[in-house]
Amino acid sequence: MTNTACRKTVRTVTTLAGVLAVAAILFRIAGLAAQEKSIPDHGSFTDCQMCHAEIYKMWETTGHSKAIARIINESEADCFSCHTAEGFAAKLEGNKVDPAKKESFHSITCVACHKPGSNANPKQLVSDSEKLCSECHSQRAVIQGKGAKGVEDMRSPHSGVTCASCHMSRANHDLKLLLPNDPGLPEDRTDTCVGCHKDNSRKIRSKQLTDWHEFYREAMDPIEADMAEISAAIKAKPDLLNANLKAKLDTVRFNLSIIQKDGSRGAHNLDFALEIMAMASKDIREIKAAIK
Ligand code: HEC
Ligand code: HEC
Ligand code: HEC
Ligand code: HEC
Ligand code: HEC
Ligand code: HEC
Repeated sequence: MTNTACRKTVRTVTTLAGVLAVAAILFRIAGLAAQEKSIPDHGSFTDCQMCHAEIYKMWETTGHSKAIARIINESEADCFSCHTAEGFAAKLEGNKVDPAKKESFHSITCVACHKPGSNANPKQLVSDSEKLCSECHSQRAVIQGKGAKGVEDMRSPHSGVTCASCHMSRANHDLKLLLPNDPGLPEDRTDTCVGCHKDNSRKIRSKQLTDWHEFYREAMDPIEADMAEISAAIKAKPDLLNANLKAKLDTVRFNLSIIQKDGSRGAHNLDFALEIMAMASKDIREIKAAIK
């Protein structure tokens, strides 16, 4: 290519880029204007699907889209703070909604997390992405390895990683990680783990994930069986345990509930989970010996 031809091509490309940029801005303004219209009404999330159909479909598959169903028969305002968009908006302002108005409430919709038109946070979020999740979820404490009685704090290697960077790594609103061992994952598609661990060793990451779950289950299955046995024995004979063992059982229940409620089966912080279970097993042995 001669120099002139080259310059001409560059100019054409630049002009084209300019036109595209202007078009993009106009499109964006149109989009934002349309979004702004829906700000006052926090229920009008259905509008979002006109332009964000894919995201809307993914969101519909999650518990977020159905969260109100869990608590619709409750009359306690607290439940509505984390299970409805209206309750959550009030919570962020330090208020509570009146459960008597529950017929007009919605699940955790787009506008629970996003405030269209607002630039206060990236992606028009109502709060910083990490804070947002932890307003309702308790998994952060597990990832930091905090809160278990008698167990030292044990941070996971992922203590500095946000919920969204694992659960929404492609802004995927189904909240599912692209797991390296998912048989449906195309060979050429990067999974969530390898997206950060750029060593591209999907096999290794897949093995780690499977190990986390397996080590967790291996330790948890016998504990859950023992706990069922102990509960049944106490139900039959309520004063079976002395005060010391009763206190131990309460601690075991409290600590186990932390990792059970977490729901990740070891993935958020395997070492912390194993430590809790090791301690619980010791106490359970003592309790079982006493009820024999
Ligand atoms: C008329 C079409 C339209 C509607 C309706 C619409 N949006 Fe958008 N939205 C857009 C366009 C266009 C963009 C810009 C796309 C881009 O940045 O790539 C956008 C961007 C966004 C972004 C990303 C902002 C960023 O900073 O990257 C969020 C979040 C968003 N919309 C949420 C919503 C929500 C929530 C609703 C419903 C209340 C909604 N949108 C309704 C067209 C729309
Ligand atoms: C307003 C409260 C609230 C916020 C904010 C929130 N969640 Fe949730 N989340 C819930 C509730 C409630 C459920 C359980 C829904 C059910 O099962 O009925 C849930 C369920 C989940 C689940 C389980 C999978 C599923 O489809 O139900 C994941 C994963 C999850 N949330 C991740 C996140 C992430 C990541 C964020 C931050 C980007 C977040 N959540 C923000 C309340 C919230
Ligand atoms: C601080 C926020 C918050 C409050 C307050 C809250 N929930 Fe939840 N709830 C959640 C989250 C988050 C989940 C999803 C599980 C998880 O990630 O821990 C959930 C899950 C549930 C589930 C699904 C089963 C389970 O245990 O996982 C039920 C049922 C439920 N909540 C009922 C209630 C009721 C009833 C109230 C009021 C007494 C209430 N919730 C108050 C955040 C909350
Ligand atoms: C539980 C909170 C939550 C809910 C509910 C939610 N979003 Fe989001 N959304 C997020 C977070 C967090 C991000 C930023 C993800 C990231 O870190 O890149 C995001 C990103 C986006 C983006 C930008 C996508 C991109 O590629 O950058 C759009 C558009 C969007 N959301 C639209 C919606 C729409 C439409 C709905 C309802 C169907 C919705 N969101 C529901 C939390 C939520
Ligand atoms: C390093 C990546 C990573 C980070 C960071 C992370 N998670 Fe997870 N999470 C996982 C994995 C892996 C699982 C197990 C998924 C599986 O095997 O199906 C999981 C499971 C869960 C589950 C149970 C899923 C279900 O369907 O019931 C919830 C809820 C959850 N995470 C919420 C959170 C929240 C909230 C945060 C932030 C405080 C967070 N996670 C941070 C990787 C992560
Ligand atoms: C958002 C980025 C991010 C994602 C996604 C992520 N990690 Fe990590 N991971 C980190 C960081 C940061 C560290 C701590 C620094 C280090 O040790 O490399 C870490 C550390 C680790 C470690 C301990 C050190 C090592 O490299 O052996 C393991 C194991 C690990 N990650 C496995 C996984 C698996 C499996 C997944 C998918 C379920 C995953 N990670 C997803 C960022 C991420």
